[in-house]
Amino acid sequence: MTKKSEAKEADEKLIVGIDLGTSRSAISASNGKSMWVDSYVGWPKDFIARKVVGNSVLFGKDALEHRLSLDLYRPLKNGVIKEGTTRDEEAVKELIHHLITLVKPKKDNSKVRAVVGVPAESFKVNKVAIRKAVSDFAESLLVVSEPFAIAYGVNALDNAMVIDIGAGTIDFCIMHGTVPTDEDQRTVLQAGDYIDQQLYNFMAERYPHSDFNLNMVRRFKEEFSFIGDPERAVKVNIPVDGRPTKHDVTEEMRRACESILPAIVETTLELIAKFDPEYQDVIRQNIILAGGGSQIRGIDKYLENVLSEYGKAKVEVVEDPLFCGANGALSLAMDMPEDYWTEV
Ligand SMILES: Nc1ncnc2c1ncn2[C@@H]1O[C@H](COP(=O)(O)OP(=O)(O)OP(=O)(O)O)[C@@H](O)[C@H]1O
Ligand SMILES: [Mg+2]
Repeated sequence: MTKKSEAKEADEKLIVGIDLGTSRSAISASNGKSMWVDSYVGWPKDFIARKVVGNSVLFGKDALEHRLSLDLYRPLKNGVIKEGTTRDEEAVKELIHHLITLVKPKKDNSKVRAVVGVPAESFKVNKVAIRKAVSDFAESLLVVSEPFAIAYGVNALDNAMVIDIGAGTIDFCIMHGTVPTDEDQRTVLQAGDYIDQQLYNFMAERYPHSDFNLNMVRRFKEEFSFIGDPERAVKVNIPVDGRPTKHDVTEEMRRACESILPAIVETTLELIAKFDPEYQDVIRQNIILAGGGSQIRGIDKYLENVLSEYGKAKVEVVEDPLFCGANGALSLAMDMPEDYWTEV
């Protein structure tokens, strides 16, 4: 190959960063496009369903809307691609393909290079499954832990800690100027989904005759989540005997949101304590919250207060929780030296 055609080929690579999440998955591409979908994949149950939904596979909101006609999958539940269940593996493959088609024009034949972020501790299992899933659409691939992708994106590469509060998992990662190892990372399985379940239970206990489901509860949470003192009472509309009725759920909301705090505090302290004592102070002052759960009002201040008991502490929330993982993965992909890439 001549130098010129080599250069042309390099130009024609589309580089993408993908954040595979339990609830949402996002992609950012070197052509400037970025998109996200709810991490749902559904196949029509039979030929009638196929006719009704008008497609052989549906994603995100479309899939949720037609859920009664579909076999619906949320393939990254608990942050791990459930291996062995072929449909889950297939669903991840379809999801990745869908994300790539969202940013890549149909006529564009350029090769795809992907950095994919997955939850920290399930890393090893997922690596193999993801390689299988992207092999048809990408020519080279790198799988990294999600909090590392976030850290890279916000340039917190040295003496910092990222806490990514997602739906299925909370991922922790300490950065100390090198690529983080397993030792630097932790995953906790009580995250956004857990809050939803708690809130649902508390509400069901207080209002046994009201008619609500987990989806509604999640929407209430995303609108009103808070920790500590409420700014004002949280009142939501729920049908009782078919009639929309205001319900006060302030106390239930607080308890549900606060239910993830003990595990966060414990894991944060444990990871910091394991670190070189000379740097523990610096890390405590450089803690970054990401993921949808970072939007819970008051969570940054709460953690800062608790950690202050051990010395000076600073906790900040990323600017763009929806895309920070995908953007970080993209920057990583752009900067990655050639010999780090593996062919798929
Ligand atoms: N304002 C909000 N307050 C509280 N929780 C929120 C808010 N907005 C979103 N969430 C929750 O954040 C979670 C989704 O966050 P995110 O998109 O980071 O998760 P994910 O990456 O799909 O999950 P995971 O990282 O576990 O695979 C959901 O549980 C969602 O309900
Ligand atoms: Mg995530």
